[in-house]
Amino acid sequence: MKGRALTFTCAIAAGLATTMQFAAAQPPAAPEAITFLGEPVSADRIAQGQEIYANTCASCHGANLEGQPNWKRRLPDGRMPAPPHDQTGHSWQHPDRQLFDFTKLGIGGVVAGYESDMPAFGDVLTDAEITAVLAYIKSTWPDLQRDMQAKLTAKDEEGS
Ligand code: HEC
Repeated sequence: MKGRALTFTCAIAAGLATTMQFAAAQPPAAPEAITFLGEPVSADRIAQGQEIYANTCASCHGANLEGQPNWKRRLPDGRMPAPPHDQTGHSWQHPDRQLFDFTKLGIGGVVAGYESDMPAFGDVLTDAEITAVLAYIKSTWPDLQRDMQAKLTAKDEEGS
C-alpha cells in the first residue's frame, strides 16, 4: 500500500516535470509504440519532430497542439482556422498517407480548388522531417485515438 502511494506521487511529479519542460498536452508515449506508414519511429526522431513542431507548426496549431481559438468556426474570409493536433481535433481520423500529403502539399495540393491557410511544407521540410513531426504528433495521442488511427492507416495502405 505504502509502495503504491509512493508510485502514484512519483507519477504526478513526473507528469508535472514533463508539463513544465515541454508544455506539451501529453507526455510522449512509449517510443516503440509509434510507427509511421508501418515503420517504427525512434525516440530520437520523435524528439526531433517535437522541435520541428515547435518551430514550424505551433504558431498556427498551438504550442500545446490545441489549435486556433474557435477552430470549428469559419474565418470571415471563408477559410477554416488551424485545428488541434491533439485528440480533441481530427488529425487522428486521417491515415498516415493523408497526414503526410496534407503537410507536404498543403490541403489545396490534395483537394483541388480547396482554399486553405495550411501551407505546403514540401520546400521547407524533407520527407524524413515531415515523418518525424507527424510521429511526434501521434506520440501525444492517447492509446484509443492511436489505435483507431492505426486501423485507418492499415486499411488505407491495403487499398492503395
Ligand atoms: C500558417 C498557419 C499554419 C501552419 C504554420 C501550419 N498549419 Fe497545418 N493547418 C492550418 C490550417 C488553417 C489548417 C486547416 C485547413 C483547412 O481545413 O482549410 C491546417 C490543417 C492541417 C492538417 C490537416 C489536419 C486535419 O486534422 O484535417 C495537417 C495534417 C496539418 N495542418 C499539419 C501541419 C504540420 C505538420 C505543420 C507544421 C509542419 C503545420 N500544419 C503548420 C494552418 C497551418
